[in-house]
Amino acid sequence: MSEIPALPADFDPRAEFPILNSWTFLNHAGVAPISRPAREAIKTFAEQAHRDAYLTGRWYAGVERVRELAATFIGARPAEIAFAKNTSEGIAFVASGMDWRAGDQIISTAVEYPSMIYPWMDLAARFGVVHTQLPEHQGRFTTQQVLDAITPRTRMVALSHVEFASGFRHDLAAIGKVCRERGILLCVDAIQSAGALPVDVHALHIDFLSADGHKWLLAPEGAAIFFCRETLIPTLRPEIGWMNVINANDYSRHDFTLRPDARRFECGSHNIPGVLALGASIEMFLKITPSLIEQRIGGLVSHLRNRLAEKSYRVISSDQSGETSGIVAFEAPGGGASHGEIVAELERQRIIIVERQGRLRASPHFYNSPDDIDRLVDALPDGRET
Ligand SMILES: Cc1ncc(COP(=O)(O)O)c(C=O)c1O
Repeated sequence: MSEIPALPADFDPRAEFPILNSWTFLNHAGVAPISRPAREAIKTFAEQAHRDAYLTGRWYAGVERVRELAATFIGARPAEIAFAKNTSEGIAFVASGMDWRAGDQIISTAVEYPSMIYPWMDLAARFGVVHTQLPEHQGRFTTQQVLDAITPRTRMVALSHVEFASGFRHDLAAIGKVCRERGILLCVDAIQSAGALPVDVHALHIDFLSADGHKWLLAPEGAAIFFCRETLIPTLRPEIGWMNVINANDYSRHDFTLRPDARRFECGSHNIPGVLALGASIEMFLKITPSLIEQRIGGLVSHLRNRLAEKSYRVISSDQSGETSGIVAFEAPGGGASHGEIVAELERQRIIIVERQGRLRASPHFYNSPDDIDRLVDALPDGRET
């Protein structure tokens, strides 16, 4: 079995993630269970809000603390972080905030999650933006393929750090370096990487990033981190409400001066329990350390790949260095049960994986164990000869 480093001695996975007592949950690329600290943060908020709504000042200070934690977590500055209601809204800040011109090109892939496709289709329809969608080849892209698509009219490259259906991880450091040299913006959907893999926005030359908490960050749906590189903040026109301005709490003097930092993208009240829960999860990740989390996921994923190969299941996800993630996409041998039937039968056995783009997709997190992987593979039907 591949090397899987131990969890910290004071971390009891069954106490932290009681879902382990009832399910073999291997769908963190879907909607994941929330961490114990996230649950505690919501419970505390609910009690306080129920009994003593006068604590708003404390919650707002808590939101600012989460801004700092989120910044630390992705290598940004707090002034570069805004809270959005989901990944899609962060991407919409970019799509609707820039002054698009006919002929501007956006390079993306043909297999992005729809939240990274429809905004560009909308810009194509409204402004004549050219939306280039690169084809996937056997679960992979090459960096060269992305760079070769660049033209003098390329305005932005928009990619998921990790593609949701194949688990392919783009080499953002290499792509971003070229983009930065050529004055092309890099917009990244990081919901399938943040929490599973270390993300450093400046090392990866990312200009805009968006990631909701409900997958690898083990936080509830509806609270997302949006990063905007500091010098680009004035270039994005925000959606306007009462909170984007410098004197937001002065309700009678109407001074329409936008905040100089990323808080200018926040137009009204926050999802406070969601943001506090997200912060509690991020604190847990920082304590366990992103590198231990990455190593454990890497070990579990490679154990899964090996076990699937023994059983003649075809793994689609790339195993090349730098291209792996927490997602393993695979296909059953021909002639047996359909993928839909396999997913349904596994669920009957309380094992959760999903089907995406015609493939089976498993996505273990750091608190899973090799036994969870073995339970999945042992429950998969043997292939029949075709
Ligand atoms: C790559 C990717 N982006 C975005 C989303 C949806 O994010 P949200 O609902 O936070 O907008 C998903 C959900 O599966 C996803 O896989």
